[in-house]
Amino acid sequence: MKVQQFSRIGFIMAAAGSAVGLGNIWKFPYMTGMYGGGAFVLVYLITIAFVGFSVMVAEMLIGALGRRDTVGSFERLAPPNQKGWKYAGFMGFNGVIIMTFYSVVIGWIFYYLFEIFTGLPTSTDTAKATFDALVGAKAGVQIFWHTVAVVIVAYIVYRGIKGGIEKFNLVLMPALLLILFGLLAYATTLEGFGKAWDFMFASDWSKINSEAIVRAVGHSFFTLSLGMGAIMTYAASLPKHASITKTAFIVTFMDTLIALVAGLVIYSFLFHEGAPAAQGPGLVFISLPVVLSHFGTLGTVLALLFFLALAFAGITSAISLVEPVVQYLIDRFDMTRAKAVVVTSLGYWLIGIGALLSYTKAWGETFSIGGKPLFDILEYTTDSILLPLGGLLIAIFVGYVLQKDRVYSALEHEMGKTYFNIWRFSIRYVAPVALVFMMLNLMGILKI
Ligand code: PHE
Repeated sequence: MKVQQFSRIGFIMAAAGSAVGLGNIWKFPYMTGMYGGGAFVLVYLITIAFVGFSVMVAEMLIGALGRRDTVGSFERLAPPNQKGWKYAGFMGFNGVIIMTFYSVVIGWIFYYLFEIFTGLPTSTDTAKATFDALVGAKAGVQIFWHTVAVVIVAYIVYRGIKGGIEKFNLVLMPALLLILFGLLAYATTLEGFGKAWDFMFASDWSKINSEAIVRAVGHSFFTLSLGMGAIMTYAASLPKHASITKTAFIVTFMDTLIALVAGLVIYSFLFHEGAPAAQGPGLVFISLPVVLSHFGTLGTVLALLFFLALAFAGITSAISLVEPVVQYLIDRFDMTRAKAVVVTSLGYWLIGIGALLSYTKAWGETFSIGGKPLFDILEYTTDSILLPLGGLLIAIFVGYVLQKDRVYSALEHEMGKTYFNIWRFSIRYVAPVALVFMMLNLMGILKI
């Protein structure tokens, strides 16, 4: 059972730290590029406003009322004849599945942080060669940095809610904000800024298709950390009188703002050098270093700051991916925190090694299933199936299973009657329909 509680600001920073992650700074900008810019951004913003925010309130509510690990909270809140809902709590395990590849990417970021000192690549060919060599050939190096990431995250989680998660978020999140807004201030002085702005905010609907819509919906879940119990687990330590609605709003707002700022910064640099927008996942590892190399020493400093921000964002999200299972093991199996952390970390560390090996030339085939690298399978399964499924279960549980009075009395004083009704409509109808639509489409489109 929980004893520790966040402070109010500690909770906001921890939840924002969870939401703001690689999804914002690495994934959102390249997806925007891949799907043509403005129209994609608009769909993403609409989804965040009408689906993401509502589900965030619902997920926080389950945690704040349940006050247990994810399984315990569902079990406690479900009506007596529907205790099977506790199995929905196993969505907490999605986090460690995500961690198997998330930690590998944090490892790449650590590697880059050190590589920057040896000089930035001046051509796309060399940059691509560096990235491909790391991912395709240097298994040992990757395992090393993946292990460093696992150990750092394990240490923070081991220190617990107050001494670890809250403390680190209170330092890393302001640092991240400072760096990103500093970079933004600099980016506005560049010629590329106006182009970046137009690219992101002028909607070109001809580029949008059902795949782009589905990816935008999926991403808005990933970026807000919804559907896997991270927000729920943190909310179990929500200070008693904190407002769920207000907190959810601040977190959603910060997450969205940071994604937009990251996009503006990256595209300002890119367009300043006349580089093309659509580049895929290599955007920050291949294109950005090349572009920054043209800025001389200043470029090295900018690259360092950027990758530092990326590392901070990754770590604060990673701890929220691990905490739900750790909390589950503590609550259910009476484990000490230390033991729970070791068991959880060992599990995803090992699978993570399989994930990174699946991209190497030497081991790729061994770690692929049906021709798909394990890395992609893990990413696809979580991002496209498990998170939306988790979101759907949360929406159904709060919209239909929890007694309305209970939900009403928890939220009405925060929202007022009108907003409460709008929110409830969204959680009962808009969110489930959007999520089912998305899951069906994605399964059809990506045909795994
Ligand atoms: N929101 C994080 C990001 O944008 C990822 C994440 C997903 C974290 C789910 C926790 C839960 O990178």
